[in-house]
Parts: sequence; structure tokens; C-alpha cells
Amino acid sequence: MKKKKALIFGVTGQDGAYLSKFLLNKNYIVYGVKRRSSIINTQRVDDIYKDINYKSNFILLYGDLTDASSILNLIKKTNPREIYNLAAQSHVKVSFEVPEYSADVNGLGTLRILEAIRSLNLEKKVKFYQAGTSEMFGSTKEKFQNEKTSFHPVSPYGVSKCFAHWITKNYREAYGIYACNGILFNHESPIRGETFVTRKIIQGLVRIKQNYQKKLFLGNLYSKRDWGHARDYVEAMWKMLQQKKPDDYVIGTGKTFTIKEFVNIATKKMGLNIKWIGRGIKEKAIDIKSKKIIIECRKRYFRPLEVDYLKGNATKAKKILKWSPKTSIDSLIDEMIKHELNNNDQY
Ligand code: NAP
Ligand code: GDD
Repeated sequence: MKKKKALIFGVTGQDGAYLSKFLLNKNYIVYGVKRRSSIINTQRVDDIYKDINYKSNFILLYGDLTDASSILNLIKKTNPREIYNLAAQSHVKVSFEVPEYSADVNGLGTLRILEAIRSLNLEKKVKFYQAGTSEMFGSTKEKFQNEKTSFHPVSPYGVSKCFAHWITKNYREAYGIYACNGILFNHESPIRGETFVTRKIIQGLVRIKQNYQKKLFLGNLYSKRDWGHARDYVEAMWKMLQQKKPDDYVIGTGKTFTIKEFVNIATKKMGLNIKWIGRGIKEKAIDIKSKKIIIECRKRYFRPLEVDYLKGNATKAKKILKWSPKTSIDSLIDEMIKHELNNNDQY
């Protein structure tokens, strides 16, 4: 049987690595788009590249979402049946510092892919997945957010992703492209970027526990997030492209925790006994055994505006895609700690 071909923009990111493995296990040929960088940026997919079982079906190519000609050439050259757009300047806080770039990559980048599909007359041949986000809900007051919840983004990142969402919907309705928006809540893993809060916490605490680091500095401890596992979420992306009709789906766990609660679960698992003292920016955590302060807050990690509360309602995905999350927050944290402990062997 002829192998299906998929093209992944953002292959070197957390989700790109998990999705590549998922598709290769389904016998796809995977073309991944990496961007040029002065230092090797393929660490997350190096194991795939070296694996004899995957190697010949996994091809990395250069491209950039800010470069329309590269996108067009890549699609022409690889002739994929499925395109996953996972590429983005994905850090919310950083988007306040590079708003124009974030809009260019996240917003216009999506449009560039859709336009390439149209220019190559692939409207009826290619299926397109757009990596949307719960950040689009922004300052919502809904207790649970689903596909009907209105968007009120509160960061340049959120705004750029709203553009991508609507342009994907627009191209679906105007040109009949099989294009889906996944509206994914936070998903983490041992290979999560080190500046996102879950990885930062686990990495920091493991280093503190092993005496490689003295303190962990955080921002807002009271925002709430619905955290799932990236491995489960990439399956939902694929499922969206296997339906009869394209549609948009919310993907989340339906559970929410504060950053402080995440810290408390993680410290307990690591056998660190902590006590919180102080309030606001002066709030800190003390290691009861050593009596040392191990966590402090710093202004620089706060955002000009915050998404205070996220909790996803994935009923539609459960019903139509037969998708539900498999990994609990406990197992996620266990996996992240285990990975970090192994990583730290090299210190
Ligand atoms: P990530 O780890 O930050 O990966 C982003 C990927 O995009 C990386 O491969 C990055 O390349 C690439 N990229 C950045 N700018 C690019 C450009 N100009 N041209 C081409 N590629 C570029 O993000 P992730 O966590 O895997 O998330 C995947 C997607 O889902 C993103 O679009 C994100 O916004 C969205 N999303 C994520 C979550 C989540 O909780 N993880 C939730 C909802 C939506 P480098 O490796 O070279 O930097
Ligand atoms: N990054 C970071 N660093 N966040 C911190 C810190 C810190 O030191 N201290 C507290 N936080 C808080 C942030 O203010 C935010 O409320 C929460 O922790 C989560 O921050 P991140 O882990 O950076 O993720 P995010 O929720 O802003 O964005 C992620 O999830 C989105 C889906 O809702 C990213 O992956 C986005 O790309 C994704 O769309």
C-alpha cells in the first residue's frame, strides 16, 4: 500500500516531535520543516532521525513561515496529503516583546500556508491542521471553555492565533479546503521548552534537590491552567484530519490547577517539604528541612496582562473524534521528574 505523506511545520518543537513519532508509527512518510539556526535545533527529533525503524521515512527540510516562497516550494516538492501547522513563536510573555514577529509567524504564516495550498490547486487534495490555543479565550469568564465560547485574547500571541483561527475557517468556507482548528489547552511533557512554567518548575526543583541550584524564581502563582500531555494531544490533531468533514475542536482535560498547586504536587513527589510565607511579589517557599528559601517571585516573570483561568470542555472531541486524555496530571509530573533526574546525571 502507498504510504501517506505528511508535512509538519514546527517539527523541532515539543508537539512536532511527538506528532512525528505518532505518524511514523502509523506508517506515514513524514517531512519536517526546520528553520535555519546558528546552533543545532533538532535535539527533540534526533532520536527519530537515528532510529533505524523510522530513519528512511523521516525527512527534514529547511523552511520558514515568514518566507512564502519556501512554503510553496516545500509543499510542491513533498506533495503531502496532510499538513500540520505547529510552527509558532509560542511563548506568550515573549510575544509582548516581539509582537510584530509573533503576528508575522503565527498569523501571516498560517495564511501563507493556506495561500500556497490554493496556488497549487490542492484545495481538494490536502488536509490542513492549524494549532490553535486556549489562549484565544483570554479573559473569558466561562467556567468551562468549549467551541462556542467567544474569544477575548489578552496577548499579541493570543491575538495572532485568533487571526490564524479565523483565516483557517475562512479558507475552509470560501475554498472548500479540508482545514481544522484544534483549540488546544496547555500540554506538557519531558521535552517541553525550558521557559514554560511546568518544565521550569520541575527542572528547577530537581536541581535544587540535587544541590545544583539554590532558588527557583517564578511569576504569577495564582493563574489556573488545564494541563494535559502532548503525547495525547497530537493524537487528537491526527484524528481531526481523519473525519468526513473538517471542523474545529477543543482539546483539554477538564481539570484546572494553579501554578502553586503544581509546585505543591511536584515538591511532594520529590520529597521536598515546603512552607509558603508572605504575599504577592513577596510570597516565597521555604524548604522546612534546610530552612532555606527555595522559591521566590520576580516581577520580570509577570505579564502585562494575564489569562487567569483556563478549563477546557472537550465533549465534542470525545463524541466525534472518540478522543479523551489518557494521562493524569500526576502521571505527567512523574514522567517529567523522571526525565529530569536522568538528565541531571550529566551535571
Ligand atoms: P514549541 O515547542 O515552541 O515549537 C514551536 C515550533 O515552531 C518549533 O519547531 C520552532 O522552531 C518552530 N518555529 C518558530 N518560528 C518559526 C518560523 N518562523 N518558521 C518555521 N518554524 C518556526 O511549541 P509547541 O509547544 O510544540 O506547540 C506547537 C504549536 O501548538 C504552536 O503553534 C503553539 O503555539 C501551539 N499550541 C501549543 C500549546 C501547548 O501547550 N504546547 C497549546 C496550544 C497551542 P525552533 O525549534 O527552531 O524554535
Ligand atoms: N513561563 C512562565 N515562567 N510562566 C510563569 C512563570 C514563569 O516563571 N511563573 C508563573 N507563570 C505563569 C504564567 O503567568 C501563566 O499564567 C502560566 O504560568 C503558564 O505559563 P506558560 O507555561 O508560559 O504557558 P502559557 O499558558 O502562557 O502558554 C502556553 O499554553 C498555551 C495554551 O493555553 C504556551 O504553550 C502557548 O503556546 C499555548 O498556546
